[in-house]
Amino acid sequence: MKRTIDIQDDVRAGVYHDSAVKHVTGVAEYCDDIGEPAGTLHAYLGTSKVAHGIITSVDLSGVAKAPGVVGVLTAKDIPGVNDVSPTGKKDEPLFATDKVEFWGQPIFAVVAQSRDEARRAAELANVEYEVISHVIDASGAMKANYPHVTDPLKLERGNILKGQNAEHQISGQLRVGGQDHMYLEGHIAFAIPGEDEDVVVHSSTQHPSEAQHMVAQVLGIPSNAVVVNVRRMGGGFGGKESQMNLFCAVAAIAAKRWNQAVKIRPDRDQDMEITGKRHDFVIDYDVAFDNFGQIQSVDGQFAARCGWSSDLSGPVTDRALFHADNAYYYPNVRLTSRPMKTNTVSNTAFRGFGGPQGVIAAERIIEEIAYALGKDTLEIRRANFYGQNDRNMTPYHQTVEDNVLPRIVDELEESSHYQSRRRAVLEHNTQNSIIRKGIALTPVKFGISFTATWYNQAGCLLHIYNDGSIMLNHGGTEMGQGLNTKIAQVVADAFQIDFDCIKITKTTTEKVPNTSATAASSGTDLNGMAALDACDQIKERLTDWAAGHWEIAHEDILFLENTVRVGVQVIAFSEFIRMAYKDRVQLWAAGFYKTPKINWNREKGEGRPFYYFAYGAAVAEVSVDTLTGEYSVDRVDVLHDVGKSLNPTLDKGQVEGAFVQGMGWLTSEELYWNDAGRLMTHAPSTYKIPLASDVPREFNVKLAEWSENRELTIKRSKAVGEPPFMLPICVFEALGMAVASLIDYAECPRLDAPATPERLLMAIERMHR
Ligand code: MTE
Ligand code: HPA
Ligand code: MOS
Repeated sequence: MKRTIDIQDDVRAGVYHDSAVKHVTGVAEYCDDIGEPAGTLHAYLGTSKVAHGIITSVDLSGVAKAPGVVGVLTAKDIPGVNDVSPTGKKDEPLFATDKVEFWGQPIFAVVAQSRDEARRAAELANVEYEVISHVIDASGAMKANYPHVTDPLKLERGNILKGQNAEHQISGQLRVGGQDHMYLEGHIAFAIPGEDEDVVVHSSTQHPSEAQHMVAQVLGIPSNAVVVNVRRMGGGFGGKESQMNLFCAVAAIAAKRWNQAVKIRPDRDQDMEITGKRHDFVIDYDVAFDNFGQIQSVDGQFAARCGWSSDLSGPVTDRALFHADNAYYYPNVRLTSRPMKTNTVSNTAFRGFGGPQGVIAAERIIEEIAYALGKDTLEIRRANFYGQNDRNMTPYHQTVEDNVLPRIVDELEESSHYQSRRRAVLEHNTQNSIIRKGIALTPVKFGISFTATWYNQAGCLLHIYNDGSIMLNHGGTEMGQGLNTKIAQVVADAFQIDFDCIKITKTTTEKVPNTSATAASSGTDLNGMAALDACDQIKERLTDWAAGHWEIAHEDILFLENTVRVGVQVIAFSEFIRMAYKDRVQLWAAGFYKTPKINWNREKGEGRPFYYFAYGAAVAEVSVDTLTGEYSVDRVDVLHDVGKSLNPTLDKGQVEGAFVQGMGWLTSEELYWNDAGRLMTHAPSTYKIPLASDVPREFNVKLAEWSENRELTIKRSKAVGEPPFMLPICVFEALGMAVASLIDYAECPRLDAPATPERLLMAIERMHR
């Protein structure tokens, strides 16, 4: 693939994922493929078998005596601090000591010569508990007066209208399920001890810097003794933003204790039992609206199942509130979060980071109004869209300045033939057929930036070697989203050289320090700008040097097509670099970037938490079998805004993948805990993720090619990782419409998510009653 990359050109459309061939031929190196030094040991976790209890005795003699076992680690064996909480709250012990707070909580690790021996030995523990009553979900937690895991957030503006002050008023409740990340590659950490305090950890983490600091904390050593490396992940989806801390810590402690390389890799069941998932929510809402369907006020309470520790539940529940308006202006509003502690696994980041749970509440409110007034939901949506010059202030007091939704929705309505197809669906549903149809068009507006403002920074280390080849290292991690490809495109474009002159190396805390998690969809925005800064520094040095060397004006030195033009001379890029090296020009640079304009005051609930918004919309048409609740998604049309795309191939892949993953969340993926508090859906046998056959039969995905970020982002692009995850809310709503057709749309179907065939059948029965 020898070619010059010009981002402003169509050429970029064809740049596929830099590891695509390696992925499909099986030679891409994942953590478990790294060669193991002789004597490598394997760790496995021993976990709690009750949901809540005081530990009265721990007898690990059976474990220690098991074949192949080298030793066991409990809290007493942690040289530093027994904590791996990502926010510094110190509420997440690595190993439980006197108390366990969920079924599956790690109590010890066993280290053996083989993974199989460690796994078998872990089952031989004899732990006794004094069982305490437990709470599994958010509703139960509120009833039992369980604490919040972190301070709730309130967003407020104006006055809530109640009773006679409102033309219409509706109250309701929506329950939205959680979701397991189901990354293809599970959690893994592989630690190799070095001299003195040193340890190197290879891991599949979205957040190498945090893993580094956690390993230092549990070992009681400075961060400079710890290196964390990540070449790539087999998917993260937020599940590896904080959850890898545990595994890195265990591998590192064991590696230092026995002075051997130690690997830890839970099997899928343990991975699902002990690592956090998407938060499920119980949302109570009160909406007032006028005869035209325009919202007058919204009062919403967002209670989330956070699990036993805070983890990232604070920022996740905050982001739910930030998205509880979705695309709509609420003149009067009060939104509150209830981040509830429960005796379940500690829930964590998952694509959208609470945003989807907020957006679906806004869409339910629209449905309530539309069904109450007997109107098309699209008409009610339009009536409530944020305005261009007025009606544009969010509940958190940020003004929406870049609203491209009206255009997106108009174009999609037209290109998908929404109106004529909707008429056909309504007509079909009058035929009394067993198969009922539904159609819906839903929009998305998603805020881009970490709401923890300080996370919005990034670094890059760029080396040009004296043969002209380039080594690119930035703080982001590659999890399949194509981040490395995009950053390499930025560098290739800056120097106007071939894409494959650039070597993308593993992410390592040795090269770029204090990085943020690759999360909040900001990987390209942040690291792309840091890379550009590094390129600009080197180009400036090269141009200064060449101007002096050839005694020529700076403007006459141009980087073009693998060459440098110096006046009329054309010099090959590699030759130019060799000459610069000989003349002692520094050929490497460290780039840095921090997002401008953003600020957030959580106490006041005011500020500009987001640099900009990404937008999109989708239409789904579905068919539901009203005798069984089974359904098919017949057609989906998407129009999504990625600003000026850096790479339409990768961006379309992100939109398609996010859509199907979001469909899974809303239709088939269901987490179930039994009364004892044990997660029963801990393998793909009982937890149904979408299959290739679940992809919409007709799936038309388009990027809004005219769009351009009005803010100065990298090449005016927009983040794409998370926003399209919310597009499939149209599938959910279309299913509801098919069900409501049974009573001639007389009532809002009020489906809870996920809309499994079982739940649809229950809704159908409710309609018949
Ligand atoms: N795409 C793939 N293939 N694999 C992933 O794990 N994670 C998603 C999204 N797309 C993910 C993905 C999530 S949760 C985020 S926040 C972004 O990618 C992170 O990467 P970015 O910031 O570079 O877009
Ligand atoms: N998004 C994703 N991950 C995060 C965030 C966020 O806003 N804040 C902290 N981690
Ligand atoms: Mo994504 S949930 O911000 O890792």
